[in-house]
Amino acid sequence: MVVKGTILSGMRPTGRLHLGHQSVLDNWVGLQDEYNCFFMVADWHALTTGWEESKEIGQNTLEMVADWLATGLDPNKSAIFRQSRILQHAELHLMFSMVTPLSWLERVPTYKDQIQKLGEIGKDINTYGFLGYPLLQAADILLYKANAVPVGEDQLPHIELTREVARRFNHLFKPVFPEPQGIVKKEVAVLPGIDGAKMSKSYHNYISIGADPEEIKKNVNLMITDPARIRKTDPGNPEVCVVHKFHRIYNPDLLESIEEACRGGRIGCVACKKQLAGSLEQHSAGVRERRQEILSKPGYIEEVLRDGEERARVVAGKTMEEVREAIFGGQA
Ligand code: TRP
Ligand code: SF4
Repeated sequence: MVVKGTILSGMRPTGRLHLGHQSVLDNWVGLQDEYNCFFMVADWHALTTGWEESKEIGQNTLEMVADWLATGLDPNKSAIFRQSRILQHAELHLMFSMVTPLSWLERVPTYKDQIQKLGEIGKDINTYGFLGYPLLQAADILLYKANAVPVGEDQLPHIELTREVARRFNHLFKPVFPEPQGIVKKEVAVLPGIDGAKMSKSYHNYISIGADPEEIKKNVNLMITDPARIRKTDPGNPEVCVVHKFHRIYNPDLLESIEEACRGGRIGCVACKKQLAGSLEQHSAGVRERRQEILSKPGYIEEVLRDGEERARVVAGKTMEEVREAIFGGQA
């Protein structure tokens, strides 16, 4: 029998997901047959930067898990669960905090970066919890002895820290943990927001996964095109146009003819946008339908989560027994 490797990944529950999340989510969906998968709603992580909005986390969790399921995460294959329901995450985080040098955490690139960025918009995240965020993430991953962690590129420093923590624990006590690898799906091109900046909820420049035709139309109309183009017969430059970046991902077969028509002044931006909106609508229709179906079954998502939590708890409990034994020896 071939023993499957283990995958753990998670997202902070920020509500409905957008097209910027799609490639990570597609990556998760594709790994479900090959690996033993754990997909976690990182609700404690959401508190580290959003404790003021703590009452929104429950609803945001439902919205996000609806997107996960509608996109193809399958509760029969993968354990889908809330971090806050598996208390072993907190215990392992505490154990790691005893042996992790402070400098390792201060050195994580997102740390000073985020404090400064959020400070600029008047948010103070100078807390103990925020400093420990990557260590909590290490506990999430190692609790399930994951071999691989499919994430976006921005998370790689956290995976590196996780490897260092695993190595240190194994060396100080007993070899309990594998050193996990980050899996990043290399995109040919990263999808920008409708204004050309990084797609993000806080910039209000996103299109939701499973968006309805109205949202799609409105946002495609707002996309920035080649600003030098005034009449439709003016030759355009697709390289500077957001619509083109979306066509590249959603209409790869038509890309060349769109580029030629744009450069030759044979297609207007209005028509070009109409074509994109049509393809996006086609893409999102299936997800939208499944999403509505999932949300219309009362209690269904709660049931999926509870079932996933039961499965996660068994594995987490086993690991913590090993961890206690490794730290305290047989007497504890
Ligand atoms: N830090 C991740 C993010 O912001 C979320 C996360 C929490 C996570 N724990 C994790 C991702 C464990 C992968 C593995 O997106
Ligand atoms: Fe962009 Fe299309 Fe207009 Fe060219 S024709 S600038 S690709 S929207």
